[in-house]
Amino acid sequence: MYDPYLVGVALAVVAGALAYFVFASFLFGAGYQPTPRAAALAMLRLAEVSPRDTVYDLGAGTGALIFRAARIYRAQTLGVEVEPLRYLILRARRGLSAEPERVQLKWGNLFDLTFGDATVVATFLWPGAMERLRPRFEAELRPGARVVSHCHPVPGWTATVHDRATDVYLYRWPEAAGTNSTGGS
Ligand SMILES: C[S@@+](CC[C@H](N)C(=O)[O-])C[C@H]1O[C@@H](n2cnc3c(N)ncnc32)[C@H](O)[C@@H]1O
Repeated sequence: MYDPYLVGVALAVVAGALAYFVFASFLFGAGYQPTPRAAALAMLRLAEVSPRDTVYDLGAGTGALIFRAARIYRAQTLGVEVEPLRYLILRARRGLSAEPERVQLKWGNLFDLTFGDATVVATFLWPGAMERLRPRFEAELRPGARVVSHCHPVPGWTATVHDRATDVYLYRWPEAAGTNSTGGS
């Protein structure tokens, strides 16, 4: 027979651990939800990622984007993740991957990074974080850089494409900040 008290404690511990894993990083810019496969593939395709690119994933989660960028497109990647358990998962995945030399990982706050070395920046963050990122992008991105975002746009920028099927926005810097770009499909 199970002791109902112990079962209750075990359930509370599991629920607390899950809540921590998903929600704790809200304080920094987004909770945890892996980018769906179709959206991750659309982000990489729309950004026209190639082996010449350096792809930054701001809030890399458990790696839905960066490992595909490294494996399928042979790009250099950098994933930054603030939540320590997910960072450890990223480290373990890199250890098992066939191209560890293309995956750089950082444990920390994405707002402490500079973006000048990125040719592609990927995001799946809450609107407040996108708002904070916009002036940083405008100050630091190099001409020709692409920004791809799932779910939430860069406020005030004009997307080259908004793929409604996957809810992915593509921006090209510096055109995105002008008024000439057109909304896409
Ligand atoms: C919605 S998930 C996106 C996951 C990932 N991009 C993917 O491809 O699956 C957002 C991630 O951003 C992380 N995050 C939120 N704020 C952050 C910050 N300020 N610095 C670093 N990571 C952050 C969260 O911990 C979470 O793992």
